Amino acid sequence: MSNQFDLAVIGAGAAGMMCAAVASQRGKRVVLIDHATRLAEKIRISGGGRCNFTNLHAGPNNFLSENPHFCKSALSRYTPQDFLSLMKRYQIAWHEKHKGQLFCDDSAEDIIRMLKAECDAGNVDWRMGSKVDEVQKQEQGGFLLQTSAGIIRAAQVVIACGGLSIPKIGATDFAHKVARQFGLKIIEPRPALVPLTFDAKAWEPFVPLSGISLEVDIETGEKKSRTVFREDLLFTHRGLSGPAVLQISSFWEPGKAIRINLLPEVDVAEDLVGNKSTIKKNLANHLSQYLPARLVDGLLTAHGFAGDARVADMQDKRLRLLGEKLNRWELIPNGSEGYRKAEVTRGGVDTRELSQQSMMANKVPGLYFIGEAVDVTGWLGGYNFQWAWASGTAAGLAI
Ligand code: FDA
Repeated sequence: MSNQFDLAVIGAGAAGMMCAAVASQRGKRVVLIDHATRLAEKIRISGGGRCNFTNLHAGPNNFLSENPHFCKSALSRYTPQDFLSLMKRYQIAWHEKHKGQLFCDDSAEDIIRMLKAECDAGNVDWRMGSKVDEVQKQEQGGFLLQTSAGIIRAAQVVIACGGLSIPKIGATDFAHKVARQFGLKIIEPRPALVPLTFDAKAWEPFVPLSGISLEVDIETGEKKSRTVFREDLLFTHRGLSGPAVLQISSFWEPGKAIRINLLPEVDVAEDLVGNKSTIKKNLANHLSQYLPARLVDGLLTAHGFAGDARVADMQDKRLRLLGEKLNRWELIPNGSEGYRKAEVTRGGVDTRELSQQSMMANKVPGLYFIGEAVDVTGWLGGYNFQWAWASGTAAGLAI
């Protein structure tokens, strides 16, 4: 078994397999190394087992990064249509769920099999179950990798070890460690696309609402930095989750507020105050035409309103306050569920250290970083895989 390669890719996940497939099919001798024994576990569990593999509308605006322009080049050179063409060759059926999100009809395993077949078509050498302990740059050129399966030498190395989310399925900070070792800056990593939590005492009144889901507008930030999503929100025992909260979590800054409009299509204060004299029902019954009764009861109790009060008898000031709570509910999370539950890691290798064409580190010729390890974080909805495919392809074509 040869231990000398043109390219060693560390991390056989979405980005690593894509890069290995592209480079190997261009005639490079490629070894793909992963400490996990099962291939691409994150693809397997993604999208509820059906993998939301891309988004038809993916563009630079759907990504967070200290340097928002960095992702443009790779994304424009490998588009969602390119990935669909690849899937067509493998006859993998898919469907659009909503907002351009594409899922496999059958299983995420189809994507894993396709990428494995693409690597096999280029005769990629597999080293699954092999931990990389160290990456050393050699004076005579190239790199030496100390791995649990022995020494591997490669002219070039791609770090595709992903982010820190879900350590129990093999996530590590290896990519960040290698970047630091070579003097590259790291944008402080933190959990993103993650449920938000609240102080246990303050959240107590909302615990009975856990399990309820509804479409809301959710926002954070002020003026120029204000970001809004309309998505489903889910109440949990410890706080808030669902697509709305996962989306906003990536933008939320610790200590800052999030604001939720539980009834985006109704101005509650205007409805209650304006129609006060004609509303015959009590408060709870009136609001139940807009929201599930259990949610109405829970929210009224939590905010200190009596559900059986006659709307006509209530002061305008109280009705406006209720409108504020329903249309502009402001909360300050005390944190998030962390990497244990986060779908991705925000931050990572500073893109100013990398070439946007090739993903190679400017200071370290031959060393590349791709996928989630890089400070490019997609919204929820297939964008993170699109970045994995695009950045993997950019490096694979440059090597
Ligand atoms: P990825 O994490 O895929 O691969 C990294 C690989 O490196 C792993 O195989 C790991 O074992 C290996 N590794 C780590 N350290 C190593 C070391 N020291 N030595 C050797 N190997 C090492 N995105 C999306 O677009 N649509 C979706 O539907 C979902 N759904 C989803 C669900 C859940 C539960 C999670 C946690 C995440 C998602 N995502 C997602 C995000 C998506 O999975 C993620 O962005 C990509 O997998 C990132 O691809 P990478 O190849 O960069 O890392």
